[in-house]
Amino acid sequence: MQEITLIAICTFGLEAVVKREVKALGFDRLKTSEGKVEFQASVDDIPKANLWLRSADRVLLKMGEFRAMTFDELFEGTKALPWGDWITEDGKFTVTGSSHKSTLGSVRACQAIVKKAVVENLKAKYHIDWFEENGPEFTIKVAMRKDVALLTIDTSGSGLNRRGYRIHSGEAALKETMASALVQLSFWREDRLLIDPFCGSGTILIEAAMLARNMAPGLNRNFASEDWPSVHPKAWKAARRKARLAEKPPRGMQIFGYDIDDEMVDASQRNAKKAGVGDDITFEQKDVKELWIDKPYGILISNPPYGVKLGVFQELNQIYISLHKTFRKKKGWSIYMLTADKKFPDYFKRAKPDRVRKLFNGPLEVNYYQYYGERPPRE
Ligand SMILES: C[S@@+](CC[C@H](N)C(=O)[O-])C[C@H]1O[C@@H](n2cnc3c(N)ncnc32)[C@H](O)[C@@H]1O
Repeated sequence: MQEITLIAICTFGLEAVVKREVKALGFDRLKTSEGKVEFQASVDDIPKANLWLRSADRVLLKMGEFRAMTFDELFEGTKALPWGDWITEDGKFTVTGSSHKSTLGSVRACQAIVKKAVVENLKAKYHIDWFEENGPEFTIKVAMRKDVALLTIDTSGSGLNRRGYRIHSGEAALKETMASALVQLSFWREDRLLIDPFCGSGTILIEAAMLARNMAPGLNRNFASEDWPSVHPKAWKAARRKARLAEKPPRGMQIFGYDIDDEMVDASQRNAKKAGVGDDITFEQKDVKELWIDKPYGILISNPPYGVKLGVFQELNQIYISLHKTFRKKKGWSIYMLTADKKFPDYFKRAKPDRVRKLFNGPLEVNYYQYYGERPPRE
């Protein structure tokens, strides 16, 4: 079986989580760098990586990497790669690009050169001069970084965050990939109580439930490479079948979501149902000021309103004061908050956060404040 290199790309700051996921899928020879985890695989692994990766944005097929300081070098280097092994005669291929700290700084020009080079390569393979481009989609990316060109083809199509369960979302909904990473960065395990008091469309809790039930996040969507003849339909069928069999049944978990907005509560319920975890989560309309916690141990993971996107500052103060009052003495609760508001720890005031992780919610720099609670005594 031909060995290929796949690259799981992700939001800055999530590399460690993605690396863990890639390893757990059984891949080896991993190479991690900013925003990406590279790993060795076989062609038949393309379905598995796409179906199962939870925190990665996309899975790219690495075509080649070489130094290019001139357009000639970019053209020749690109033309020499085996595009015909993947792109079909009727393939529709577009080129996207980026450039960072490189002599070839014009992304548009790089894209045009790469397209030309790929066309030349395919002309030689298929012995035709004109490509109809009405077949399967191949999105090529040329990423220039410090004068090194990385050429890839996107195997995923739309981003892996598009799991297909979100029918309703609030204006400040988290990406599913980020929500899953927040859960994986926490101490939550399926036998522990989990709440999100600002659940919005329910993303964090839905991702937690899917994780606990070993549900493949990509099972209910399609991927660009499903239409590629190079990845055998049997491989997709087998990977989907395996994923369906791996799923665990509902298991009476204690997962609760609250939101002040009853429309969001309704949206969460519908999204959870669509995701297949409707019976695992209880959603309820509740203002955080009315949140009453009587359990000594639990985990809170949330993404409160943070002024930039929602809410006004006075309202935010009230929210922080409520959280402070509720959790000040709850030493058995681990609290995880993702917010752009750097003042959060000053108001929440439960000692100092044990860890602060810098992440990005879209273009917005945010912090993931982690306060570790005492572990429950072993039964
Ligand atoms: C940033 S959004 C959460 C988005 C969510 N993580 C998702 O993926 O959809 C914040 C949510 O807090 C809710 N909210 C605002 N004030 C609240 C309050 N006082 N009590 C409870 N929820 C509140 C908003 O309705 C909004 O849905």
